[in-house]
Amino acid sequence: MISQSVSDNTLRLQKLSQQGSGHLSSVETQCAQRLEELQTYTGTPFFMWDVDRAHPNELDGHGMRPLVPESLRRELTEQQEVRRISLGTELSAILVPLNFDGDFVGLAVGYVCAHESSRPTELVITAAMNNWPEDEFNAWLGQIPACSRTMLDAIVKMLNDHNMFEKVETELNQSILQLDQQLEQTYEEISLLHRLTSNLHISRSPADLGALCLEGVSGLVPAAAHLIWFNDAVADESFIVHGKLPFDEFGLARLVAQFENHNWTKPLVKNYVQETPLGRDFPGLENFILVPITEASHRSGWILSCNMGHNEEFGTIEANLLKSIATILGTHLRNIQLYEEIQHLILSFVQSLVSTLDAKDPYTRGHSERVALIARRIAEELGWTNEELENIYLSGLLHDLGKIGVDDRVLRKEGPLDQDEFAQIQQHPMIGFTILKRLKNLHQVLPGVRSHHESFDGRGYPDGLQGEEIPLMARILAVADSYDAMGSDRPYRSGMPLKKIESILKSGSGKQWDKQVIEAYFSVREDIVRICQEYSPERGILSSDAQVKEAYV
Ligand SMILES: [Fe+2]
Repeated sequence: MISQSVSDNTLRLQKLSQQGSGHLSSVETQCAQRLEELQTYTGTPFFMWDVDRAHPNELDGHGMRPLVPESLRRELTEQQEVRRISLGTELSAILVPLNFDGDFVGLAVGYVCAHESSRPTELVITAAMNNWPEDEFNAWLGQIPACSRTMLDAIVKMLNDHNMFEKVETELNQSILQLDQQLEQTYEEISLLHRLTSNLHISRSPADLGALCLEGVSGLVPAAAHLIWFNDAVADESFIVHGKLPFDEFGLARLVAQFENHNWTKPLVKNYVQETPLGRDFPGLENFILVPITEASHRSGWILSCNMGHNEEFGTIEANLLKSIATILGTHLRNIQLYEEIQHLILSFVQSLVSTLDAKDPYTRGHSERVALIARRIAEELGWTNEELENIYLSGLLHDLGKIGVDDRVLRKEGPLDQDEFAQIQQHPMIGFTILKRLKNLHQVLPGVRSHHESFDGRGYPDGLQGEEIPLMARILAVADSYDAMGSDRPYRSGMPLKKIESILKSGSGKQWDKQVIEAYFSVREDIVRICQEYSPERGILSSDAQVKEAYV
């Protein structure tokens, strides 16, 4: 038992030494300070006794010179209470435990005589055995006060109470420190979850978001490896690893299969894997947390952290963090899926509208789709984002939708239109705008539909806008629309040759059309010629789902 205690104390001192000489010195400073405090409280000087080495610990001039009678030595063991030890009738020793951060580091030892001018035999003999000169011993003895037994017991009780308060204070400080660390960890976790939710843009790919998750988790959970495995069509299959994983993708599939019957509403936490049958199949796997990425009942992948460092175990904190991340990822994947479904629905709807217009005005068949493709290519040249390119493409498809509301005879008339007929035709941008403005998911196409017949010099319709008052989407569509209209055959005329079309575009630059859009057209004119040559109304850009997606993306 004693050897165990010595061994414990040795470990504590080693621990303190490992924290650096500065820290050890801080222990000694605190002990010296404590000896001085004890002298102030009791009126008698104290010295420090190292119970491990069974030897006094002299603190560089602090405390009393040590003198320990043989009968007292056996009492100087690790203890947590202040004690009074009688050494004959004339002398008592006070033993006070010295603790540092809750760890016992030694005893403070002080003496009290029963009477003034006592010369306790125990001390006289011990001083002689240690060859102390008489005058030094007398001076040393002169420091020891006299005190009644009652008073001494009161002092011991007071010191014990003080010790207890100190112990409570230390425990409270340790609790505060622990809470502080937990609070810091919680803050970091909340920050990570906030960062993730701030990055849940629909355009961010699951693999990108997965990599961001793993980077954040690795900063919070000190495990050797973290991985995300998307095994669902929405996310495209991907296996993202951060750190050193003791198995590959197939290994993970085998691991998941082992726990087919687990209740996956809760994270799976396994520590000490090598001590279980699972260890044989997964060498190098010490411990892990496995969490499914789910949304409602749909499972689209897995998150795993494994091999916690410093022989630590995985616990509730890590499991909950991974579960929160899995929930965010699951929701994101579901949102992407819903978004794609909505986009597909919008395209199908637009396809129906374009088909309706084609049926009404067969001579313009394919015109809307070509305008959409040409406008998108010009916008791309102008540096538009993918989302903006999608919008102008849809707007191109729908730009003449308002012709649904124009009399068939006017639309199909072969030959020049009179004033009334032209006025009817001029209503089509506003008719299209009125139809589409009720559709929330198509709001982004409205500027192109309403203003594609505006002229840069203000002589267009329906609003007579001028220059940059005209939305850029409409200025691009105006060029694409004119280009395709001039090049198309009509019953009453043949399409113009490219050379003539481009000559008209050049002369109208800065007048009918925006100069920067015309310049962009000439930068990509070869691409546009190819787009028109490759396009055929029979095949159609929107003729199959695959082409819809290809054209849309
Ligand atoms: Fe139009």
